[in-house]
Amino acid sequence: MRETLEMNGLDDVIAADTVLSDVDGQAGTLIIRGRSLDELAQGSTYEAVLALLWEGLFDDPSRAPAVPALLGRARSQAFERLGQAELRRAQQDPVEALRVLLAQIDDGERLDTALRLVGATAVFTAAVLRLRQGLKPIEPDATASHSADLLRMIHGTPSTAEQVTALDRYLVTVSDHGLNASTFAARVVASTRAGLTSAVIAALSALKGPLHGGAPGPVLDYLDSIGKPEMASGWLQETLSRGERLMGFGHRIYRVRDPRADAVKGALRTLIRAGQVDAQRLQLAEAVEAAALRLLAAKKPERPLQTNVEFYTALLLEALGFPRDAFTCVFAISRTGGWIAHAREQILGGRLIRPRSRYIGPRPQSTLAQPVATSFDAIGPESSRRPPITSAR
Ligand code: ACO
Repeated sequence: MRETLEMNGLDDVIAADTVLSDVDGQAGTLIIRGRSLDELAQGSTYEAVLALLWEGLFDDPSRAPAVPALLGRARSQAFERLGQAELRRAQQDPVEALRVLLAQIDDGERLDTALRLVGATAVFTAAVLRLRQGLKPIEPDATASHSADLLRMIHGTPSTAEQVTALDRYLVTVSDHGLNASTFAARVVASTRAGLTSAVIAALSALKGPLHGGAPGPVLDYLDSIGKPEMASGWLQETLSRGERLMGFGHRIYRVRDPRADAVKGALRTLIRAGQVDAQRLQLAEAVEAAALRLLAAKKPERPLQTNVEFYTALLLEALGFPRDAFTCVFAISRTGGWIAHAREQILGGRLIRPRSRYIGPRPQSTLAQPVATSFDAIGPESSRRPPITSAR
């Protein structure tokens, strides 16, 4: 007898209660600790959202007015840890380098570890990007905002007010988002009491996948290959007919447009108004988005596939001068705050996360009697199950 291997991706399974964030996939809204994304993305700094996310989760208070200084000091402490190892890591993919470098932060569950992790993601990413260009890492300015300091540590010169605002808006927008794959990974690890560093590294490892936070790099590869707005339809159609997915579209929860796509596009507009975005690039992206939505609606009328946060993230981070292979690191710089909030929530209120699986393989007594399909027979070769993700990094 053949059984079907059921891997439904835990669709609609509620695995945790949380006070942190709520994603409504039908209404297309995101709430972070009682505040709407629209409200937060309009005027909050990343530090303010971090304080909001962490409120009440640590023994030591992390109140809003103190967070900018605490985070600035954490960046300086992270910089002091940079040594010879980073010179070697700098040749790697930035996400791989970041993953390895974060392991230097001693595991712990308290506020000092949490701050050090958030500071370190920014400092280590900037250092890796400088070192691989043969440049010296730039020391953090503990008095600057997280966004301003990140841009300065990467580019070596102060950024414009519009660039800092745009990056802050992005960091706020992606700071937390319900029980997504990386956040779930963080909660699982935190539930074992392994510590916040281990939880963040596990989450980063989940984030880097092309179906999650690794999508925006390939979005720019699309734009480069398409070249002109009038080529968009044909190129995307060919990609879909090869069975590939269009990066920057579709979402597990949203059946309407991802509200973060508009928040990030809003940040992009700040740069457009300041003349800091290539207008032709934006025009091309809008043509690609329109063609992709048309083709996806025709291909999958039963499954609404809309623009997700990663599409305009690609344009924004490109306009801010980040190299495309570092986009996932910039996402992680923000989301580390959200992962830590979830990890703390899990530690405070949760038990060990330990679900069960359903065994559908052979039982010892049946193996001699008749051949039984192995689990791999049951699901068939990989190529018959999932379209290839060939454009992924
Ligand atoms: N392009 C083409 N087809 C798609 C896309 C897409 N972007 N997304 C989903 N589909 C199709 C699938 O091929 C599948 O078709 P099938 O039933 O014929 O096999 C159907 O829609 C349902 O897809 P699922 O895989 O069940 O959807 P799921 O909820 O698991 O996927 C995901 C969500 C992974 C985001 C998916 O939409 C995707 O791969 N998108 C492209 C990658 C991307 O942009 N990721 C970033 C997401 S945002 C974030 O993580 C920060």
